[in-house]
Amino acid sequence: MTDLFFTVSGEHTTLPFAEINAILESAGISSSGGTVFTRVLCVTSTVESAYLVARRSSMTKVCGLELFRCDAEWSEIQRRLRDVPFTDYVKKGQSFSVRLTSFDTSHVNTLGLEREVGDNISRKVPDASVNLVDPDRSFIGFFADSMLIFGVKVAEASAKRFDERMPVNRPFLHPSTMPPKLARCMVNLARAPSGCLVLDPFCGAGSILLEAGAVGCRVVGSDVDDVMVEGCSRNLKYFRIPFDGLLVGDARRLPYTVVDCIVSDPPYGRASSTHGASPIKLVSDFLFEAMSILPRGGYLSLSLPGGWDWRAVAVDLGYAFVDRHFVREHKSLTREILIIKAP
Ligand SMILES: C[S@@+](CC[C@H](N)C(=O)[O-])C[C@H]1O[C@@H](n2cnc3c(N)ncnc32)[C@H](O)[C@@H]1O
Repeated sequence: MTDLFFTVSGEHTTLPFAEINAILESAGISSSGGTVFTRVLCVTSTVESAYLVARRSSMTKVCGLELFRCDAEWSEIQRRLRDVPFTDYVKKGQSFSVRLTSFDTSHVNTLGLEREVGDNISRKVPDASVNLVDPDRSFIGFFADSMLIFGVKVAEASAKRFDERMPVNRPFLHPSTMPPKLARCMVNLARAPSGCLVLDPFCGAGSILLEAGAVGCRVVGSDVDDVMVEGCSRNLKYFRIPFDGLLVGDARRLPYTVVDCIVSDPPYGRASSTHGASPIKLVSDFLFEAMSILPRGGYLSLSLPGGWDWRAVAVDLGYAFVDRHFVREHKSLTREILIIKAP
């Protein structure tokens, strides 16, 4: 176990941290001491978890090994830097970089400090050289909530990992389609490890199934609209995502015997039709039906329209509430991402 930190994108305040915890939990990786700063999560876990999170997560940017954490005070930082065994990380002849980023309005001069750290390393490892483009070792630090979290980069999530599956790059496009990043995040929140069977019973154009398949889950989906099922099938085939099944069917009468988890985005009656049903009745009937195909403790990760007490609906049916997050899409639409577990 080692001290790690993860930096996340700033698009949501709680989802990125919940996603990291869910990834670690579903992989059975133990972690402790999760401390949250603005856009930084510090945890004690295994180094493997850094690679796993970088590979799977939608909102993590960089994973680092923490060397120290202190108040963002110049003198305190200098004192802590003196104790860092840089020679353990940079060997003779190797190159390194130092990059500091501020997520708060701390008054520490990041450029000056980058130079100071660089000089410190050069004094300790005289043969090392600075290389800002492709260094052997990257030292990174983040100012957040008047603290500096400083360490060595272990893994970095590719900034382009969702580009190829963006809706505009798919053969079948529909206005109700969910952005791939949110779809991936929801798959992770459902604690869906690679190899498990994920169902989306309101699959639409298939964003969720694409992301579940991209991380190695087996996928199965259905939608009441045959045009959507056909479009979803085209999208999955285009990206070579194998599927266990794709059917036209009503989510209130599921034709499956058992799945490991359900990740879905039921219709809100705006960009996608509820086919005459009220959203709350449709979702309650679907949740009632879903109990029969989920194992005990099986997760559901759902995107639901704001304005209803979805947590109460789920709990009344017997589900265990796990977590929820509110995502503001625009002035008149807030999504609730609800995570629940089957009894
Ligand atoms: C919000 S869209 C899903 C979008 C999808 N997540 C995507 O990213 O492409 C909701 C879908 O639910 C489907 N739907 C509506 N009522 C349904 C029902 N009773 N059973 C199954 N699907 C239904 C609609 O046809 C629509 O495709």
